[in-house]
Amino acid sequence: MVAGGRTFNVQVIRLAGLTSPLAILRCQLIDAISSLAPTPDRYQAGVEFPFREKEFRFIAELMHATTGIKLNTSKMNMVYARLVRRLRDLGLSSFAAYCALLRGPDGEEEMGHLFNALTTNLTRFFREPHHFDHLRDVVVPAILSRSSRSRRIRIWSAGCSSGEEPYSIAMVLAERIPNIDQWDARILATDLDSAMLATGSAGLYPLGAATDIGRGRLDRHFIKTGGNLRVEERLRRLIAFKPLNLVDPWPMKGPFDAIFCRNVMIYFDGETKASLIRRLSGLVAPGCWFYVGHSESLLEPGSDLVPDARTVYRKEVACH
Ligand SMILES: C[S@@+](CC[C@H](N)C(=O)[O-])C[C@H]1O[C@@H](n2cnc3c(N)ncnc32)[C@H](O)[C@@H]1O
Repeated sequence: MVAGGRTFNVQVIRLAGLTSPLAILRCQLIDAISSLAPTPDRYQAGVEFPFREKEFRFIAELMHATTGIKLNTSKMNMVYARLVRRLRDLGLSSFAAYCALLRGPDGEEEMGHLFNALTTNLTRFFREPHHFDHLRDVVVPAILSRSSRSRRIRIWSAGCSSGEEPYSIAMVLAERIPNIDQWDARILATDLDSAMLATGSAGLYPLGAATDIGRGRLDRHFIKTGGNLRVEERLRRLIAFKPLNLVDPWPMKGPFDAIFCRNVMIYFDGETKASLIRRLSGLVAPGCWFYVGHSESLLEPGSDLVPDARTVYRKEVACH
């Protein structure tokens, strides 16, 4: 019998009080199906690594305290699936052993692996394309008129994942400012996940990314090498990829002409989100821009950010 995508051998046994074979079958099916529910106990028997609720809670609290990322119990399946490979690589036999490792002297070093496994890194070139139209049509012209003497441009991609966002910004700048090489232009690209930063720094993407980039930009900014697309050197020079945990103190002071912090805050609890918005908006230059993801908003009482376009905010006070 197939239920919930799994096959069960169902034996029909006559039990006291249940006379009809159909009633017995129904009872057994209910047991079988309820054993599929993502309850903590499910992880204790018959799975590769026992995973109890108390281990999940330890990992979730550690993630929250160190990164601001909130993982509620509905994410238990996801946490198991994302850490299973790490446990295999470490030769551990249970999540209890993994938690002991995190608590022990090697815990600090293991944290990087934990972050890399549990962050959600979904991104793509020109994701939410209206932001890049806004950058091209509003932000770049403002920079060109305001900073023609200093030729200084500073943009921060905070939570840049594997680099598609900062490279999309770089493409727009390079297309709109033909002599960008002669500008003091820098895109700071930061993330918590070291594996994502390594991909971004390498500037190598699968051929499948071409559909997001488009023919014209592909020919202009990428070189096909083997089965990959390599970002041209001119764009790569504009970007500095750096590790940064957004809930830690930041070394940079800004100000930035634009900050992109898109689809990052959705993983944080309300307090972390509010504090991050305050800190980020403090680094946006007056009159300049803050981009957030499609399901995020910056509207807080007393904020000096006002809506400028769809999920784009502008800091009040004229540009300097
Ligand atoms: C869903 S991706 C968004 C990527 C890109 N901004 C976009 O919209 O396409 C979220 C990124 O935020 C990063 N992130 C999550 N928590 C972070 C933290 N506390 N500090 C720095 N980066 C964090 C993750 O590693 C991940 O790469």
